[in-house]
Amino acid sequence: MKSYIVGNWKLNFTVGEASIYLHKLLRKLPNYRDVDVIIAPSLLALQPLSLQVDRHKLKLAAQNAFYRDYGAFTGETSFTQLNGIVDYCIIGHSERRYIFREDDKMVAKKVAAAIRNKIRPILCIGETESERAFGETADVIRDQLLGGLSEIGAEDVSKVLIAYEPVWAISSVKAAKLATPSEVADVVKLIRKILTEVYGKKTAEETPVLFGGSVNPSNAGAYLTVPGVNGLLAGGSSLILSEFADIIDTAKRVRS
Ligand code: 13P
Repeated sequence: MKSYIVGNWKLNFTVGEASIYLHKLLRKLPNYRDVDVIIAPSLLALQPLSLQVDRHKLKLAAQNAFYRDYGAFTGETSFTQLNGIVDYCIIGHSERRYIFREDDKMVAKKVAAAIRNKIRPILCIGETESERAFGETADVIRDQLLGGLSEIGAEDVSKVLIAYEPVWAISSVKAAKLATPSEVADVVKLIRKILTEVYGKKTAEETPVLFGGSVNPSNAGAYLTVPGVNGLLAGGSSLILSEFADIIDTAKRVRS
């Protein structure tokens, strides 16, 4: 399976800054066949960047979209409108779940809307610090994983990239801690076990599972060599071109 390196820029960079970053990154990046590089800029930058990007080297992701295709939904953008502009969309990021109150039902509708519009969802799941402390990690992972996939058919599950992002390991969270590779391994194993039980071995093996949470050039190699991890989702590090390029290089090295 390919590796996936995703940069989630969150609410950072003006359109001009995003364009300059992309220009520099494209110059630096060889065409890696076995590593898919994906950046998720803010919505406003997506359309101009889609005209600038070399899709052989890099793909674009939206950070969010609404699940209805058209209609009276002031302020929203649909997957239908994003079709042709992005190849991926991050869905269910913990910042959307906890700041914008998105629940598994909403996440599931968005995953279905993405698939309907030929955009691959990057479905984020992960427990909070207190859920982990109370021993609820496995239940949270099961609920968010199966909840998020509940509106699509089994044949579409392997089009979804699952991103395990423990909320307590995200750099912007107060007192964020690094997840150890063995903590990541346990949850990734659980994700594949659940996928196998519900959708069968083939689908479980073909569904990419990514890790995210304070990923940087010094820990990327360790996370990428965790059994079952097919890629990384970087936030803060993806804003620094040299760091993001290092993470991509590491993915290339780990694969060869
Ligand atoms: P950091 O890499 O800044 O911890 O962010 C992770 C994240 O939320 C990516 O989606």
